Amino acid sequence: MKKEISITQIEQAVHEAHDLYRDNHDGKNADYIPYLAGVDSQLFGISVCLTDGHIIEVGDTQYRFGIESVSKVHTAILVLRQYGADKLLSMIGADATGLPFNSIVAILLENDHPSTPLVNAGAIAACSMVQPTGNAIAKWKAIVDNITLLSGSAPVLIDELYKSESETNFNNRSIAWLLKNYNRIYDDPDLSLDLYTRQCSLGITAEQLSVCGATIANKGVNPKTGQQVFDASLAPKITSLISTVGFYERTGDWLYTSGIPAKSGVGGGILGVLPGVMGISAFAPPIDEAGNSVKAQLAVRYIMNKLGLSVFSGDSVTITV
Ligand code: DON
Repeated sequence: MKKEISITQIEQAVHEAHDLYRDNHDGKNADYIPYLAGVDSQLFGISVCLTDGHIIEVGDTQYRFGIESVSKVHTAILVLRQYGADKLLSMIGADATGLPFNSIVAILLENDHPSTPLVNAGAIAACSMVQPTGNAIAKWKAIVDNITLLSGSAPVLIDELYKSESETNFNNRSIAWLLKNYNRIYDDPDLSLDLYTRQCSLGITAEQLSVCGATIANKGVNPKTGQQVFDASLAPKITSLISTVGFYERTGDWLYTSGIPAKSGVGGGILGVLPGVMGISAFAPPIDEAGNSVKAQLAVRYIMNKLGLSVFSGDSVTITV
């Protein structure tokens, strides 16, 4: 079915979502990374970027928060750009674990078959794959350049977050070396882990995440810069990865209720992709037990339902002015 939505309707839905959930106090800031516990838990922003680059936003959309696990999407894209879709599948995998993002049990259970670049283990493996192998400086540059291309502007490392996370990432250290045990890490484990920790500590804005979402929705062309960041054939691969595991063990409930593939981070950000239509991002620090922002989920779900949009509807959507 053909469906028309006006920019005014989107603006209304975005503002209503912000008004409705601004005073919600459910969830709490992540505290296993000490820096995140100290971020102002009242911050709340929503940004929508359409595939023509038009941005609709409200609230704290210019605040730089820790990108955390949302960066797993960006680096999965980099690996897809450098290796192609088949290699990502054979070297990491594209399957949901159904377990928490930092699960060690998942690695033990799946030692002989692939996982996904969107949980910690797969994301550390993805960092290990980034070329050129063995060169931490050049690999880091490739990761940051890729995020910049996808977002239309550069992320900025939050030094204090990087320090905080490096001092407390004992679980991830175990994951990196367990991957080594199963030959599922493709560079030095400590180097790969450090790159992963650093990429998680990048400061990003909700607006930048919505532009990245729109770049994926727009088949690899960044609508703000007009640049083709990745081959159009990779777009459905990326959206499928996000669909299956973007909210970890809560992914099914999320997709069922919101209709949009999205990826969360414990910094409070989420990035959603509605192919052919828009990228959407929301940011609010308090998270639920699965590590997903409470208010960001409520806001994105509200907007999708209010506009009657779903990736599963089969509708062909046109945005009118
Ligand atoms: O590795 C970690 O635990 C953090 N750097 C990122 C985790 C995360 O964001 C999970 N997502 N919701």
